[in-house]
Amino acid sequence: MKRIKAIYPGSFDPPTNGHLDLIERGSKIFDELVVAILRNPEKDPLFSVADRRKMLEAMILTAGFDNVSVDTFDGLTVDYALRLDAQAILRGIRAISDYEYELQMALMNRKLQPALETVFMMPAEKYSYLSSRLVREVAQLGGSIDCLVPELVAQKVREKMDVAHKFENAEQLAGKASSEGKSRSRKKKA
Ligand code: PNS
Repeated sequence: MKRIKAIYPGSFDPPTNGHLDLIERGSKIFDELVVAILRNPEKDPLFSVADRRKMLEAMILTAGFDNVSVDTFDGLTVDYALRLDAQAILRGIRAISDYEYELQMALMNRKLQPALETVFMMPAEKYSYLSSRLVREVAQLGGSIDCLVPELVAQKVREKMDVAHKFENAEQLAGKASSEGKSRSRKKKA
């Protein structure tokens, strides 16, 4: 019997409940699903690829999906899919706004590798507004991301934000101290 293997490529920075929903749906229709994190040196990510991999692996373990694994790749998605002997690329479509970009990408991938099929699935409606970019933005501005990402991801995001705030505070204090020092020495000279 032919077994169907699919890859689910993306940035996953950070992985969200919407991603998890799609992984669950994909795990039900494919025999094997590989969540593939793009190693993109041009982007300035919140989490390293290694951190994203750990979070996704923990999410998959917690959910108990035994036909899902996590990997990383660079270069063309279609080349990676061929190396893995996968027959399909899984992508999520949340709203009409996603469609144009996803269609363009699917058709380009088909042009590059006609044997590979792109399969679109829709996450649950409650995740239709959810994206990694918005999760990062809400967290950076102090909003709660508790129902948007799994708890283990929320914890990691909070840790990142704490470190960033401490760093900002230290920089501000250092800037203040140096400007106070300068004005004191100007006063002495005067
Ligand atoms: O989570 P994202 O950022 O929407 O994922 C986009 C991703 C990784 C699927 C896309 O950027 C991609 O496939 N990049 C790999 C390079 C590639 O194959 N480019 C041609 C796509 S048509």
